[in-house]
Amino acid sequence: MTLFSRIVGTGSYLPPRRLTNADLVAELAAKGVETSDEWIVERTGIQARHFVVDGVNSSDLAFEACKQALAAAHLGPQDIDLLIVATSTPDMVFPSTACILQHKLSQLSPQAAGIAGAPAFDVQAVCAGFVYALSVADAMVRAGNARRALVVGAEVFSRLLDFNDRTTCVLFGDGAGAVVLEASDTPGILATDIHADGKHVGLLCVPGHVHGGQILGDPVLKMDGQGVFKLAVGVLEETARTVLAKAGLQDSDLDWLVPHQANIRIIQSTARKMKLPMDKVLLTVAEHGNTSAASIPLALDAGVRAGKLQAGQLVMLEGVGGGFAWGSVLFRY
Ligand code: UT7
Repeated sequence: MTLFSRIVGTGSYLPPRRLTNADLVAELAAKGVETSDEWIVERTGIQARHFVVDGVNSSDLAFEACKQALAAAHLGPQDIDLLIVATSTPDMVFPSTACILQHKLSQLSPQAAGIAGAPAFDVQAVCAGFVYALSVADAMVRAGNARRALVVGAEVFSRLLDFNDRTTCVLFGDGAGAVVLEASDTPGILATDIHADGKHVGLLCVPGHVHGGQILGDPVLKMDGQGVFKLAVGVLEETARTVLAKAGLQDSDLDWLVPHQANIRIIQSTARKMKLPMDKVLLTVAEHGNTSAASIPLALDAGVRAGKLQAGQLVMLEGVGGGFAWGSVLFRY
């Protein structure tokens, strides 16, 4: 009987257009928006981000990340029987980005067509999207409803940014990360913990929506940065403790923390509360900025490819963001 799911391959992709803080500061200055490399680095730890060009969508970034994850797992699309995409920047209002991605993957080779027919759907939990998607996939694998899942976080947040609002437009970037999850007799994922509290919808949102052929409301990202910051540090500590308790483990057992990469100060605060030295924290925020649902799998893949994660190590993933939604996943690599 299958009891667990294991991560057997990771992949990621960043669009080639990279903007350093200096590049962005110059672009914004040309529009009369004043910011600086010093402010961005000091308040967030971000030094650069990647943006897509026109015509490139979340499914395109996801497709590249999935090819890498499948190659790392020595599998093809035909081996996948569940496809979940975490995104808040879908290609279309519907169908899901997962369905669009499934079709792209199915065209990779004649055998790849075998991925057609597998369930494919999106999960929308903003920056907590990847831990939500991984929790759902883990539950489906453990219930025997899937043997091999592709779980993806993919975002084009640059499309949601108001480049006249310096308090948000310097923070985000585009990208995708993916993992292959496989049924296994041994762990694998040890525990998951996800939560939401909708009373905080207004703290971080894109209020606009499609209505009768037009956009009603403001279709750009709005954030109460300090409000998000305060809530985030509290719930991240809480979910970290909960997921460890569920697995009967402690802070000191952790080998790696792979946090959502929004702000180095939030990450440092969590590490401090968990008594975890920063050299046990995988960091990509400087290079990627906040890529929402893509940030955790991007950081995870960077850690794997750098040879940091070793077989058997205990790893915690943690995400938090709009909703408010948050959660964590604890696994043995
Ligand atoms: O993905 C999950 C959700 N997102 C987050 O986790 C983000 C959470 N929040 C944060 O990371 C931080 O609150 C921010 C990075 C957004 C802001 O940092 P802060 O230290 O909370 O700054 P602040 O909002 O208190 O602003 C301080 C000052 C203000 O000026 P005054 O009022 O003190 O004169 C802002 O107007 O910094 C100013 N400011 C800027 N200055 C230069 C805000 N944005 C900028 C900017 N460049 N880009």
